[in-house]
Amino acid sequence: MSREPPFSRPPKAATPLFSSSTREVPEVLATPRHVAIIMDGNGRWARARHLPRVAGHRKGVEAVRAAVRSSIERGIEYLTLFAFSSENWRRPTEEVTILMDLFALALEQEVAKLNSNGIRFKAVGDMLRFPSRIRDLIAAGEALTAGNKRLTLTVAANYGGRWDVTQAARAYFALNPGALISSAALDPDALAPYLAMSYAPEPDLFIRTGGEQRISNFLLWQLAYSELYFTDVLWPDFGPATLDTAIASYRTRERRFGRTSEQLQAAQVARATQGE
Ligand code: IPE
Ligand code: IPE
Ligand code: MG
Repeated sequence: MSREPPFSRPPKAATPLFSSSTREVPEVLATPRHVAIIMDGNGRWARARHLPRVAGHRKGVEAVRAAVRSSIERGIEYLTLFAFSSENWRRPTEEVTILMDLFALALEQEVAKLNSNGIRFKAVGDMLRFPSRIRDLIAAGEALTAGNKRLTLTVAANYGGRWDVTQAARAYFALNPGALISSAALDPDALAPYLAMSYAPEPDLFIRTGGEQRISNFLLWQLAYSELYFTDVLWPDFGPATLDTAIASYRTRERRFGRTSEQLQAAQVARATQGE
């Protein structure tokens, strides 16, 4: 069986999405449009209670529900959750099996609810390694919720930032064979549409729970200009208060995208005059 994914042309974005490489000074909104979270600390949450790690993962699923609810209430448009990294296969087989079972169960139980709440469900990652049951549930969930507009919930599963950039390059060359001879046309703007999350603007705010201050191969390309927020709160304890603290921290940041403060202020004045 071939493990090669079928390559298809990236759809053209209906509205221009925010990208950190834009020539104009991007408008920074008080509420981040896109929040991306590394949900870490389930194991330590369980250990602190003398419970098996699975208890932490179960509680982690509840925290996902709460995070989705809070995101909608705050007007966040895209919520991206790192559920399983391409490196998490290195864990003991029993834990991987438990995580797969929990993922399948969550898909079975939650997708209809997501749909009735107007949520578009997406999954990113190398799906070919998942059992067919999970792949089918994902495909059905994406199809069912494709037209929803309230929030786009993306679950990153068997995802790795290095995998993403590599698969994008492979897809680009498969569909632009001329570029194999002369690769001058391949620049970041040409590659970006082939990345797994090309349907979303880049994350404005990145949150990692669990106390570690690292990216662990999450959205390497897309986080280039995201504001980073790290908290010791363990994922099962994540709730609206932690999200609000992260957003409050985000609001204190000056997002310069390589420019100077003076340029940002000038752009703000120009925008205000235009709006008059
Ligand atoms: C995050 O929690 C969940 C996954 C990586 C699947 P962990 O399981 O990594 O929890 P800790 O880091 O061991 O506490
Ligand atoms: C990152 O957490 C991946 C997910 C939360 C899915 P890990 O617990 O796997 O990260 P490391 O190993 O501490 O870097
Ligand atoms: Mg961890």
